[in-house]
Amino acid sequence: MAQNIERVEAVMTAAPVIPVLVVDDPKKAVPMARALVKGGLPGIEITLRTPNALECIRAVAAEVEGALVGAGTVLDHAQYEAAVKAGSTFIVSPGATDNLFKAAEDFPEVPLLPGVSTASEVMYALEAGYQRLKFFPAVPAGGIPMLKGLASPLAAAKFCPTGGISLQNARDFLACPNVLCVGGSWIADSKAIDEEDWAGIEERARAAAALTA
Ligand code: 3PG
Repeated sequence: MAQNIERVEAVMTAAPVIPVLVVDDPKKAVPMARALVKGGLPGIEITLRTPNALECIRAVAAEVEGALVGAGTVLDHAQYEAAVKAGSTFIVSPGATDNLFKAAEDFPEVPLLPGVSTASEVMYALEAGYQRLKFFPAVPAGGIPMLKGLASPLAAAKFCPTGGISLQNARDFLACPNVLCVGGSWIADSKAIDEEDWAGIEERARAAAALTA
């Protein structure tokens, strides 16, 4: 079954940036997500890299109006299912495997944004019916020259580059015709979350939301 492009694009085009978050405390995840939404970034990715990440997703999904909360660093079918049950509206993975494609088929209402970093991986994803992809890790994997190189031969693929993106280079990535949005941790890094710097997070979200190509 092909990717649910309409649903994944709704997240990718909600704002120019998808914040990537590592958060472990639901009591912090909720005000963090409120600050991001208030700053203009509704689509947020909570990575499954902490013991309570699913609880954080559950809390944000239940309590933060306007948030499109997704799960990131989803590596297998079991994590996909758990993330869906916690209330995720989209799923992001650093890579692409048949198991993940199967999970996406089993939960068609919650779209998958699979990760790729080479031409062959893009071709593999396209063959599986996936045209909206995370380009990861964006800067180490070749950055803007690589995206430009992929644009003509693999024109159906559109990307969310993530990994090494900052406020400084985001605009150049967004100017690539095959880039729909970028992802990054700079808006709400672990330090800002630990220190409960909601005002700072909102301010960085506002600057990110104002980025246009
Ligand atoms: C990650 O894996 O944490 C994301 O790709 C974010 O990368 P970044 O910290 O370079 O923005």
